[in-house]
Amino acid sequence: MKQAINTLLQETLDRLASLEDAQELERLRIEVLGRKGKVADLFKQLRNSPAEERPALGKLLNEARSRLESTFEEVKSQTAEVPRREHVLDVSLPGRVPQLGHLHPITRVSMEITEIFLRLGFEVVEGPDVELDYYNFEALNIPKDHPARDMQDTFYVTDSIVLRTHTSPIQVRVMEKQPPPVRIIAPGKAYRCDSDMTHTPMFHQVEGLVVDKDVSFGDLKGVLTTFVHQMFGPEVDLRFRPSFFPFTEPSAEVDIQCVICRGEGCRVCSATGWLEILGSGMVDPEVFKMVGYEPEEVTGYAFGMGIERIAMLKYGINDLRLFFDNDLRFLEQF
Ligand code: DAH
Repeated sequence: MKQAINTLLQETLDRLASLEDAQELERLRIEVLGRKGKVADLFKQLRNSPAEERPALGKLLNEARSRLESTFEEVKSQTAEVPRREHVLDVSLPGRVPQLGHLHPITRVSMEITEIFLRLGFEVVEGPDVELDYYNFEALNIPKDHPARDMQDTFYVTDSIVLRTHTSPIQVRVMEKQPPPVRIIAPGKAYRCDSDMTHTPMFHQVEGLVVDKDVSFGDLKGVLTTFVHQMFGPEVDLRFRPSFFPFTEPSAEVDIQCVICRGEGCRVCSATGWLEILGSGMVDPEVFKMVGYEPEEVTGYAFGMGIERIAMLKYGINDLRLFFDNDLRFLEQF
């Protein structure tokens, strides 16, 4: 009996020392000190022990019980104060770095193009995405039955309202509002009902327009050459190829030396060594007449380029759709 008391005392103290949490502590307290617990059991056994040993055993058991009660109290006050290990803040651990967002490659290229033209003295303007047929076509010398409309795969909102198919209508809006001189670029979204490897229904363009006295095709060549050299590097060659746009005369498309093969000829440039990057030309007198400018007094040049195309060449990206998938594995590389 004496040994049973001492064993219970020692075992319980040992178990108390390695306790994990308050729940376990309470479970152990009921097991040992509860009404039907081990101490109560020993008190029951005490009645069956020889009468002469009973006082000493009773004393020992009472002492053991009060020792256990006070130890339980003590441990309980400690477990309340010190939370479980997982809840302790370990300030020495490295912090969790929140994922930072950043600019989309199209936004970056658009800003880069804008900055180059800002340095050349251009002003940045904007226009509406939902545009009147008049600004998108009529005023740009593209009348209703003009074959150039077919090329544009227009999204019509109503008979007279479209999603702009290019950023060129901004030219007209600017000239309508202010007299010459004009020197603007207009970045923005454009829309065409077209979707495949190289076309998306929404894409981005930057429009440029300069109007003043004595503006020449030489000015156009100079500004675009500076642009290409700042965007792609001074070693990149460019060429002006005759073309047609209803709102410019003469018109030219600008090619740059293939940035992949450096002019040698490869798959990207279809073995020509050249890549088309923009359309341009001298503003057609018909367009000046539409906005009330005097074609005898002023001349001007305009150009328009696709931002996705510039970004693909700049970063060597071969699939246009990557810009629109929003796959972080792609976007994080910029
Ligand atoms: N708007 C034309 C397009 O979307 C691009 C363009 C060509 C704009 C010649 C111009 C220009 O301002 O002069 O294909």
